[in-house]
Amino acid sequence: MEQKRIINVSNRLPVKLCRVADELILQQSEGGLATGLSSVFNNYCSQWIGWPGAVVVPEHQNSTTMELNERNLTPVYLSEEEIANFYEGFSNDTLWPLFHYFPSYSNYNEQYWRSYVAVNKKFADAVVNVARPGDMVWVHDYQLMLVPSMVRAMAPDITIGYFQHIPFPDYEIFRALPWKAELLKGLLGADIIGFQTKADVRHFLSTVRTVLSMTPNGNKELVMGGRKIVIEAFPISIDHKKFHDLAKEKATDEHVQKVKAMGDTKIMLSIDRLDYSKGILQRLQAYELFLKKHPEWRQKVTLVHLIVPSRDNVPNYKKLKEEMNRQISQINGTYSVFGWQPIQHFYQSFEPHMLAALYKIADVAIVTPLRDGMNLVSKEYVACNVDQNGVLLLSEAAGAAAELTDAILLNPNDTKDFANKIYEGLTMPAKEKKERMQRMQQVVAEADIFQWAERFNERMTETDNEKKRPQ
Ligand code: UDP
Ligand code: G6P
Repeated sequence: MEQKRIINVSNRLPVKLCRVADELILQQSEGGLATGLSSVFNNYCSQWIGWPGAVVVPEHQNSTTMELNERNLTPVYLSEEEIANFYEGFSNDTLWPLFHYFPSYSNYNEQYWRSYVAVNKKFADAVVNVARPGDMVWVHDYQLMLVPSMVRAMAPDITIGYFQHIPFPDYEIFRALPWKAELLKGLLGADIIGFQTKADVRHFLSTVRTVLSMTPNGNKELVMGGRKIVIEAFPISIDHKKFHDLAKEKATDEHVQKVKAMGDTKIMLSIDRLDYSKGILQRLQAYELFLKKHPEWRQKVTLVHLIVPSRDNVPNYKKLKEEMNRQISQINGTYSVFGWQPIQHFYQSFEPHMLAALYKIADVAIVTPLRDGMNLVSKEYVACNVDQNGVLLLSEAAGAAAELTDAILLNPNDTKDFANKIYEGLTMPAKEKKERMQRMQQVVAEADIFQWAERFNERMTETDNEKKRPQ
């Protein structure tokens, strides 16, 4: 009998093609989806279908496909027009802002939608091409909400799981979408639909009830044409051991020394993709207020501010970059003295040892999104803080806040309280820091990415077995 396989499908592959000196090379993708799933891919999945992150001209597609196939990756190529309308358009100029509670940033555009449908079909075709009868398919995230029902229509024997890495908003927000019924029906092609938090599950079920008049049964399952659909929360996580071990490596310590050479100050750290959902401007405002209120801390603390470039063709991301640069230059311009500046800003991505070094050495990590499905940076900080002398400042609007209750939780819009909490973090007694960090490490080590994948896989297998049992 042939082995049952899981096929992973997401818009972004774990590697992306980048142009370096006229040559296309493969680099690791950034973002929580790529980091999280990369850790479990080899244990669970036989193939990963996705976009390699750049336009590949037709004459190079065969050789690129061969190179990716060697890593069990199957590329779906997108044209420039599809990148503009499906990826930058419907995915990141319509769904992303709406699902992160920025309704006024959402653009409703028929051309975006048509492209979204067409590209979802492209992904569904790629799945059906690769899948064998009886395989299980694991579809990820908001870029591919129509894929479950499209695959089901072509290959009803396949068990389909969908996991959404970003929040599912309240109906009052979701209702703004002209295509709400289509998107929900797209998802309902899956046998199991997973979200990050219980609140997301609640929002999804009440939206389905209102838009499609479907009510869950006593087991919180939806039933459609005699088929059961499980809806559950599966908070995603990281490979705690990998990050913890990485922080102890020699190469990491070499980077730690480099960071220390920057000057003898406490280090506060923030790491985010450039995204308005991450609360970057609110954090800068709070830091400025802190410096204003606490002149005794000037020259004694440095904010290491790492921003990874992201979606830079989408207008709201461009605007954010301008405003962020303006604020950084205003703060540095006002408070810098020879030999010290309050913000060390990096607009690039760092390799894993450097990231681990920053996590390890940071006295305070400030992870304060306005809204975030989970936020893996917060968990990576916890895992790498091997000396247990760091403090995590975490937004209550991040999915991770439900688990990391020993962080200093805050509302990023409350600038005054935020500035006070920066002070609290910097002055927390060593004993309290250690106790809080120990408890958070225990939480992340127990509920790690392997446990997450195991639970999702188990539930997907259960639905698969139930379908085969005679009713
Ligand atoms: N990251 C990275 N390179 C960097 C900075 C960050 O690969 O230079 C990774 C980071 O390790 C984390 C991910 O990007 O795993 C960000 O995930 P998160 O869930 O915090 O936010 P997302 O970007 O998915 O919204
Ligand atoms: C978030 C989303 C992912 C996405 C990642 C990076 O984590 O949930 O689906 O891959 O951001 O964004 P990008 O647009 O570069 O893929």
